Amino acid sequence: MKEALDRLVERLDGLAPATALVLGSGLGGLVDQVEDPVRISYVELPGFPRSGVTGHAGEVVAGHFAGTPVLMLSGRAHYYEHGNAAAMRPALEVLAGLGISQLILTNAAGSVDPDMGPGSIMLITDHINFSGSNPLIGEPSDRRFVGLTGAYDAGLRAAIETAAKATATTLHKGVYMWFSGPCFETPAEIRMARVMGANAVGMSTVPEVILARFLGLRVAACSVITNLAAGMTGAELSHQETKDMAPIGGARLATILQRVFQDGLPERKVPA
Ligand code: HPA
Repeated sequence: MKEALDRLVERLDGLAPATALVLGSGLGGLVDQVEDPVRISYVELPGFPRSGVTGHAGEVVAGHFAGTPVLMLSGRAHYYEHGNAAAMRPALEVLAGLGISQLILTNAAGSVDPDMGPGSIMLITDHINFSGSNPLIGEPSDRRFVGLTGAYDAGLRAAIETAAKATATTLHKGVYMWFSGPCFETPAEIRMARVMGANAVGMSTVPEVILARFLGLRVAACSVITNLAAGMTGAELSHQETKDMAPIGGARLATILQRVFQDGLPERKVPA
């Protein structure tokens, strides 16, 4: 942790972003919109994940995005890669150590709602952890008893909703249900998810939200809908479809995020 933090501080050379963005499938291109980017491969940062999922790079890109200092994490570890729900803990600890105070997470997800089709964007208002795991299992301190009532920060959500309105981008809101993956869900599981109150299903983000709240970061998260969930269309699901469809909604979400950063975030740090 110390080594990665020292290396990042050195490379950032005084840049002090308050906000970090985790780029999921379809949003990797956002790093190209960072002005004067400092790019650091995860390989250079001990503790950062070595993601093996195609469609995910693995680098930190820091600089200015729409005029605001930002640190982007391009590439994340998924629980299904190794069964370690806490795989992102070292990276998030380093961000907290850097002074990042708010984290915006993005992902690709399947929609449980027929009216929220592929290409839609969903602001996550709450989650259901259906994976059976938790990144804080094994954490010895009483800090492990993290409250998640306000996990998805009201101020950050409001900023994202305002930006969606300002850019005339339709923004759905709903509950994200975390399945472990890596296989897709069954049609019966999707019917269950709907009954339980989920609007979208996916294989990431929830462990990072839990870890970020554990570390005291304020959190927001958005899903790019790549498909209607299992059993809703009759077609089989595939990772190829996720990769093909993610950039479509990804471009829409990029527009919203650009506006969020342009307008300023609730806790934006004024550059020195
Ligand atoms: N299920 C789980 N994860 C996903 C899906 C899905 O249908 N689509 C994209 N990521």
